[in-house]
Amino acid sequence: MESVLPCDAVPGRALVTGVAGFIGSHVSDALLRRGTRVVGLDRLPPDRGSAATNLRSSLSHPSFDYVWADLRYDDLSTAVTGADVVFHLAGQPGVRPSWGEAFPEYLTCNVLATHRLMTECERQHVPRLVLASSSSVYGQIAADDRCREDAPARPVSPYGVTKLAAEQLCLAFAQRPAASTSVVALRYFTVYGPRQRADMLISTGHFAQRCTEPRCASSGTAAPAATSRTSTTWSPRPWPPRRLRRRQR
Ligand SMILES: NC(=O)c1ccc[n+]([C@@H]2O[C@H](COP(=O)([O-])OP(=O)(O)OC[C@H]3O[C@@H](n4cnc5c(N)ncnc54)[C@H](O)[C@@H]3O)[C@@H](O)[C@H]2O)c1
Repeated sequence: MESVLPCDAVPGRALVTGVAGFIGSHVSDALLRRGTRVVGLDRLPPDRGSAATNLRSSLSHPSFDYVWADLRYDDLSTAVTGADVVFHLAGQPGVRPSWGEAFPEYLTCNVLATHRLMTECERQHVPRLVLASSSSVYGQIAADDRCREDAPARPVSPYGVTKLAAEQLCLAFAQRPAASTSVVALRYFTVYGPRQRADMLISTGHFAQRCTEPRCASSGTAAPAATSRTSTTWSPRPWPPRRLRRRQR
């Protein structure tokens, strides 16, 4: 276990994926307040719907650049260039829908997108990637029980399986000899606050309207799951196959 950036270090340049979402937009705002230059990437157009609302503050900041791209298909090299750290918050959230026909979306957005991003980080020797994982990797947690960080991962939903797969994928990269990108996975419990997703079970009336920044409703801690140095020698085949690739925006 080796720390690359001290806890109180302010990165000069950061890439935030999923920046148009609930947590990603707050991470971007917080980094900009600390003087970091932020490249924010999301598949949503920045001027419509919830993305426009979430990005209002970041988009008006001179140190913010928006990249409208899908991690599954688009070229990531420019977005990753120069990043001291990548906060990887893009993903397909939600437990219940993951049981249905939307599973391919979970698989591609949570696993394949992470694979492409991690590959590019390694290629460009990005020192650090912070992965948004989930308490769903633990599976069943008794209501009166505190969940230990080192409890075994036994996901009981397809969503949890994809989040655990993303963790393990990053860890596999990170354990390669002479690797350059270290990884930390944060297992968020239920995060709530302004801009939270409408589909979340915690209602805005009870919790979210009373805070100004996202908080974590948790019986345990959202702490680093894995940290290690990684390698640069592996060059996997690109995803998706050429016939599935979309035109670059
Ligand atoms: N909110 C929570 O309580 C919670 C709990 C545990 C884990 N998480 C994880 O934290 C992360 C952020 O969650 P959130 O609540 O902010 O979700 P969100 O839906 O508000 O934000 C996710 C963002 O990722 C983007 N995205 C998804 N797939 C993409 C792709 N292929 N390419 C580019 N952008 C893509 C979406 O457009 C969206 O803007 C997710 O990975 C989620 O699994 C959230």
